[in-house]
Amino acid sequence: MSKKKMRLGAILHGVGGNISGWRHPDAITDASVNFELYKKWTLKAEEGKFDFVFIADGLYITEKSIPHFLNRFEPITILSALAGISSKIGLVGTLSTSYSEPFTVARQFGSLDLISGGRAGWNVVTSPLEGSALNYGKREDQHPAHAERYRIANEYLEVTTGLWDSWEDDAFVRDKEKGVFFDPSKLHTLHHKGEFFSVKGPLNVARSKQGQPVIFQAGASEDGKNFAAKVANAIFTGQETLEDAKRYYDDVKGRAKALGRNPDDIVILPGIGPIVGRTQEEAERKYEEIANLTSIDKALDFLGRFYEHHDFSQYPLDEPFPELGDLGRNSFQSATDKMKAWAKAEGLTLRQVALQVATPKPTFLGTPEVIADKLQEWLEEGGADGFIVGHAAPQGLEDFVELVVPILQERGLFREEYEADTLRGNLGLPIPENRYTKQNQTVVQL
Ligand SMILES: Cc1cc2nc3c(=O)[nH]c(=O)nc-3n(C[C@H](O)[C@H](O)[C@H](O)COP(=O)(O)O)c2cc1C
Repeated sequence: MSKKKMRLGAILHGVGGNISGWRHPDAITDASVNFELYKKWTLKAEEGKFDFVFIADGLYITEKSIPHFLNRFEPITILSALAGISSKIGLVGTLSTSYSEPFTVARQFGSLDLISGGRAGWNVVTSPLEGSALNYGKREDQHPAHAERYRIANEYLEVTTGLWDSWEDDAFVRDKEKGVFFDPSKLHTLHHKGEFFSVKGPLNVARSKQGQPVIFQAGASEDGKNFAAKVANAIFTGQETLEDAKRYYDDVKGRAKALGRNPDDIVILPGIGPIVGRTQEEAERKYEEIANLTSIDKALDFLGRFYEHHDFSQYPLDEPFPELGDLGRNSFQSATDKMKAWAKAEGLTLRQVALQVATPKPTFLGTPEVIADKLQEWLEEGGADGFIVGHAAPQGLEDFVELVVPILQERGLFREEYEADTLRGNLGLPIPENRYTKQNQTVVQL
């Protein structure tokens, strides 16, 4: 039996997710807006046969946000530029369903999918931060509540996926002689009228050769997991142990099955920030170097963002983690619920929580072999179908591609050549047939 193949994505995250990582002697300080670097990283990831690169996003910053969030590329814009310099690798970006219109977003991702020849993916998020409302003509108290955000997102996906099927694949005849540009029977108008959106259609962008952009999601709460199980082709998760990863994997695949989906059509990708060293000691030292750059004040700022930018400097540092009631439940619900329970169970102080959250020690840390062993274990034990790889230290992506990928290839766990030139093709996902073509075939068969 052939071995299960690993899928890999690379987060292109400028100066990184660590609040003080930019201060590292080898860090490129303008990385978050350095187009040359983004090109280099994309080509490096493509050289390493990664399935896709990923651009994360958010819609609200304060002066306490991490440096990468303060000044960075908008996902669709940078991905469109990267489409022009790459040929096989997928291009995935975050866009919020709480602060955008489905018609616009369907056009944007539909266009990216055509520009890239079927390599686009959309990470659907609902925007955790209340402050986002202030950038979109609303008050903070008008930021939709967590459950409502997911209701909006559900309808949003009905609209966007419906719009993407506006044109059947053979709709554009383009017959100069007969003067026929398209076949009107292959054009479909959505006429969507729902609780949140009214969208007539059709969309003025046709399908790409992968049918529709790949839907990514990262739901972790109950509503989030139900949404992911219903709509996602690929899922990002944030588990730190194999046991938790397996639990999440079985849970979400089970939910998808209950909804009548084939669980194999969903690719589950835990997010990891590996630190690779030539020896275990070198990897440990690299971690310490990064961790030591963070002051407790910066760590408190980092922690605060999960709780609507709450000011944690008001509490004593060396006393038990403060009682916060429901604070955080309307934004990063699953993350803050988990943090509160963890602090209580282990009797941690505010200082301990802040430092561990701001500079977590990566689960995947060590020599290339140690990291490859662990990735293999997670893949084969049913905790993952692949991974979304961040860089926890400078040169992290280069180290992973040059040192870890060859081991995975040698073990037959990862491709040596791309199987396809679309993102769906490489992720092993089926190409969704146009719903109207399918409907007509069913009618003819009857
Ligand atoms: C690998 C990974 C990438 C993520 N990228 C983003 C992002 O770009 N923007 C964002 O707002 N949230 C991002 N998230 C967070 C999720 O969208 C979501 O807030 C979180 O998983 C909790 O979901 P919940 O609403 O179900 O609690 C990401 C999560 C993971 C694990």
